Amino acid sequence: MTASNDNRELRVLGIETSCDETAAAVVLRRGPAKGEILSNLVSTQLDEHAAFGGVVPEIAARAHVEVLDKLIKQAMDEADLGWGDIDGVAATAGPGLLGGLLVGLTTGKTIAAARALPLIAVNHLEAHALTVGLSDALEPPYLLLLVSGGHTQLLNVRDVDSYERLGTTLDDALGEAFDKTAKLLGLPYPGGPQVEICAREGDKKRFDFPRPMVGRSEPHFSFAGLKTALRRRAEDLAPLCDADINDLCASFQEAVCEVIIDRTATAMALYSKGLSSDAGRTLVVAGGVAANQAIRSSLDGLCADKGFTLHVPPAALCTDNGAMIAWAGAERLARGLSNGLDFAARARWPLDPDAAPATGAGVKA
Ligand code: KG4
Ligand code: ZN
Repeated sequence: MTASNDNRELRVLGIETSCDETAAAVVLRRGPAKGEILSNLVSTQLDEHAAFGGVVPEIAARAHVEVLDKLIKQAMDEADLGWGDIDGVAATAGPGLLGGLLVGLTTGKTIAAARALPLIAVNHLEAHALTVGLSDALEPPYLLLLVSGGHTQLLNVRDVDSYERLGTTLDDALGEAFDKTAKLLGLPYPGGPQVEICAREGDKKRFDFPRPMVGRSEPHFSFAGLKTALRRRAEDLAPLCDADINDLCASFQEAVCEVIIDRTATAMALYSKGLSSDAGRTLVVAGGVAANQAIRSSLDGLCADKGFTLHVPPAALCTDNGAMIAWAGAERLARGLSNGLDFAARARWPLDPDAAPATGAGVKA
């Protein structure tokens, strides 16, 4: 597929309900890589799930039902638009928790049917992948490191709707590894930001944790061994004082940074082989873990070293939000891509269906 030169203005409503954030937004697409957020509302369910130390699917689905209609109305009011001004309705159709996906997708279908608007069933991963078009006016091709609570992938983003998966995780996603580490150390949910805060005070050299997959020729990841090593050390040291927790977090984060640098460098080499010029030597980082400053500065160094430009959308657009869904919807609509009202939600939905299974997998696509 070629980039769209479609300069029609498109106003798209975006709905996100794939995990523990209910979100609605309206985005205006003025043309290729020219977007503006007219409203972007996120209602987080953190309090509902905190007591369980993780997302409970049934609670998530119910919470989406409770707030989504109100949130959509608010997003339309803030954008100061009526339904007659909207060109399409984009809803996350996967991957994610099925109950939540059904709530958002059914709502999107209902609005599309009632207002005779096109429906765009959005892949949540594609939305993360394309956010940089909205935030940084950047168009494909670029190399993408997608690091979230559910996914850890390195992708060649050739164009909208065209992805080549270079690497993925064999076990835990990186955000999940941060969250599990936090839980183990008694830090509140969600753990990623907490681990980062503790790591700032800690000694990153105190524990020599493993660097799983470093040196392998394919840019896959694995975090299960790192998590186990950390658990063993924590059990040896128990009861943990604050300094122990900080040092464990710092040493864990240091291992993660080294793994990410090695794996991304391997992906850069593979990705660069397919480029005919220096254009496209761009690394984009997306997903919730992209908010981590230590990881960002490691990647800054790597990009400087390898002649790549680094782009990271602002934190509010890295974590789950409706604007990224609306933008991905607008990008698809501009290319004539929309979906029938019979489109079924997909708990799994890989961006590159042709990718070979990663070896050793209990893999998350
Ligand atoms: O993309 P996202 O909002 O939701 C998913 O699609 O999964 O990512 C959430 C994940 C959580 O695992 C959270 O702990 C992690 O991103 N995260 C972080 C940081 N901020 C969020 N991990 C490490 N450091 C952070 N500062
Ligand atoms: Zn996400």
